[in-house]
Amino acid sequence: MRKSPNLRVQLAPRHPKGLVLPNPVMIAAGIAGYGTEYAELVDIQKLGAVVCKGTTLMPRRGNAQPRLVETPGGVLNSVGLENTGIDALIEEKAPIWARWQVPVIVNVAGETIDEYMTVARKLEGVPGISGIELNISCPNISAGGMEFGVDCGLAVQVTSVVKAVTKLPLIVKLSPSATDIREIALAVEEAGADAICLINTLRGMAIDVDQRKPCLGNITGGISGSLIKPVALHMVFETAKVVRIPVIGCGGIACAEDALEFIMAGATAVQIGTACLTIPEVCLTILEGIRHFMLDKGLDNVTDLIGAAQHSDC
Ligand SMILES: Cc1cc2nc3c(=O)[nH]c(=O)nc-3n(C[C@H](O)[C@H](O)[C@H](O)COP(=O)(O)O)c2cc1C
Repeated sequence: MRKSPNLRVQLAPRHPKGLVLPNPVMIAAGIAGYGTEYAELVDIQKLGAVVCKGTTLMPRRGNAQPRLVETPGGVLNSVGLENTGIDALIEEKAPIWARWQVPVIVNVAGETIDEYMTVARKLEGVPGISGIELNISCPNISAGGMEFGVDCGLAVQVTSVVKAVTKLPLIVKLSPSATDIREIALAVEEAGADAICLINTLRGMAIDVDQRKPCLGNITGGISGSLIKPVALHMVFETAKVVRIPVIGCGGIACAEDALEFIMAGATAVQIGTACLTIPEVCLTILEGIRHFMLDKGLDNVTDLIGAAQHSDC
């Protein structure tokens, strides 16, 4: 009988401690809150990692309702980073995470560089936290967020300031709204990012024709789900060609084949978002699908698939 394939991936090879995940399937930020309720539905400990809700310095109530609208092939959300604030996360959630075997990564958001820095500094030495994901790509807040992800200078500033105050592995999550995603990726790599995650949602809107007004309370929101997959896949493909740090692929992944496409495009790991909203256990189905694919093809290490489609002749 063949031995089980090795699914372990290293997300932060240039970080002194590294960030090894047991497998490449992560749950994306904002999908499962802090993971605690999701853990009641799904065996979360089997995942590669959990990324928690975008967390700011002070608690945020988020945007006006309605905040979620279904669109063909996806959803528009304008949650607006509703969260408990960093102090409550440290007091109430981190002690739970410290008992988990699955690594938890804190998605950090802010309106100013100072806010990002203060939040990151507070996470220093807190048990239960394996890394920071810097969200410089949220399209649903009025100040900060995506502003940092579309301007190279600001992206560099926020990355280097956070890098200077944290010993945790640092992932920077990029926006598809950047004019050239490769340029921003290279800039944040140079500024100290250990890995890059792409993509966050694309800005969009929907109108209720009977009411003659926008469907979302915030007017605009971020579009995610299957319909953004080709955009995300192309951005991962292009970015993985130019950076040396790991790329995490995210955007419309709903089955094992989608995940494998991202890995073959150059992603070291994948994050599952919208697909989990309708089928919570889809992350585990995707993980099993990757394992079966490897067994079927006689592959021993998932790392052998990373970027496999980068050098094809077709
Ligand atoms: C309801 C909802 C809330 C989200 N909240 C966050 C967040 O707090 N921080 C963040 O970086 N991304 C957030 N995202 C973006 C996702 O993490 C992911 O990047 C995006 O949805 C694309 O992946 P998908 O198509 O698999 O959903 C959110 C997405 C949705 C649908």
